[in-house]
Amino acid sequence: MTTLETMDLTGEETRLDPVIRNNPFPFYRSLRAQDPVYYDPGLDLYLVTRYQDAVTVLHDDINFSLEHGYQDRYANGHIEEFAEIMERDGGGFIRDLTLDPPAHTRLRRLTEKAFTAHRVKDLEPRIRQIVVDLVEGVAERGECDGVADIGGPLTARIISEQLGFDWSEVGTEQVAIWTKAVLDQIGRMQTREDMLENAQVMCGLQKYITRYIEAREKEPREDMISDIVHAELQDAENPKLSRYEQISTIRGFLIAGNDTTATAITNLLLVLATQPGLLDELFPQVDNERVMMRFVEENLRLMPPVHGLFRTAMKDVDVGGTLVPAESQVCIMYASANDDDSKFPDPRKLDIERPNVGASLTFGSGIHKCVGISLARMEIKVAAQEIIRRLENIRLTVPLEQLIYQPTMASQTLESLPLTFTRRQV
Ligand code: HEM
Repeated sequence: MTTLETMDLTGEETRLDPVIRNNPFPFYRSLRAQDPVYYDPGLDLYLVTRYQDAVTVLHDDINFSLEHGYQDRYANGHIEEFAEIMERDGGGFIRDLTLDPPAHTRLRRLTEKAFTAHRVKDLEPRIRQIVVDLVEGVAERGECDGVADIGGPLTARIISEQLGFDWSEVGTEQVAIWTKAVLDQIGRMQTREDMLENAQVMCGLQKYITRYIEAREKEPREDMISDIVHAELQDAENPKLSRYEQISTIRGFLIAGNDTTATAITNLLLVLATQPGLLDELFPQVDNERVMMRFVEENLRLMPPVHGLFRTAMKDVDVGGTLVPAESQVCIMYASANDDDSKFPDPRKLDIERPNVGASLTFGSGIHKCVGISLARMEIKVAAQEIIRRLENIRLTVPLEQLIYQPTMASQTLESLPLTFTRRQV
């Protein structure tokens, strides 16, 4: 998909550059070869680009703090005013639960209770029904926007239903507005005007979540909000989540579980539309779990939704031969690590039989490895199966180079994906 181009680096390049943003792999490849822990002057942080260095940082939660990595730059310079609005109109300034141990350890054990293997397995039939309805809804039209018509509505509906929200009150657009307002607080591009608008949206979201928490406290149901509200640890001093933690966890699941998975499904459509013959090759194997899981996993390696996330160095630390000064920020570039040919030979090739496909860093690694991984993998596999089963001749209607990605640092998310296709005749 992406050629093996490289660039001669001058030290002035930044991941924010729109040209790099739309096709970052030549930049990553050049960084790994020429300056693997690169100070990005536009972002004022170090990009960690090699696989081994990324793993080292991810597993060193003493020297690299996730809590500081997020909270030091929360709300992009407007934190006091933002906090005031949230206290006044939103029931409190409730931060994301991006914590270091030991607070993280307790919270992680409580939140894992919403993702047990059998719980995720039980969700599969309902998720398949949602996917089938959505793909059937576009199949006859012969054309759609993969982002607005498939990826976005699919995951917004799935996570809303799994949490227990009433879908008839929520809807795709509302989930997208909530998601953007929360992600802008860590996206580093928010202006004061954006912040004022986002703060009001987040006040509404917090009140909405609180209403559900109160209802599930009285009357639990088979949903994630009930799991979170009633989760209890047998042996801890502080066995239950506080109201603050409940709101933050539910908000975190809504946001983390939506955009990332939608991007993964959109990327999967992009691969099916641009790799000739792949769709027809996969069709006879659509019910083969092993093949479909490997296809999903390799796709997640090749085009990870999250390109990089942040940590703060707690003291001067040597990373792969570069000194990262105390208090500076690093961005662990999962997408570059997944493209490192010392770990994944011929990395730009989609190879379903790749022996180490599961070693990708798409979901992170170490103590913060994605807690929703089994739900995400299952959703994407079901989406892949029902798309492959129902659609053929999927094609992009614009040249690949004309696709535009959203202006965010953390994720690689398409603005839109215009497609044509035909309904498969079987
Ligand atoms: C394809 C879909 C997804 C991708 C690519 C993804 C990616 C990631 C990554 C890279 C991390 C590590 C963060 C770090 O190291 O700083 C993470 C953590 C997390 N993810 Fe996901 N995620 C996905 C889906 C989900 C879903 C469906 C949920 C929940 C409904 C979820 C909830 C979380 C939470 C709560 C964490 C924080 C875990 C912790 O700090 O212990 N994610 N995810």
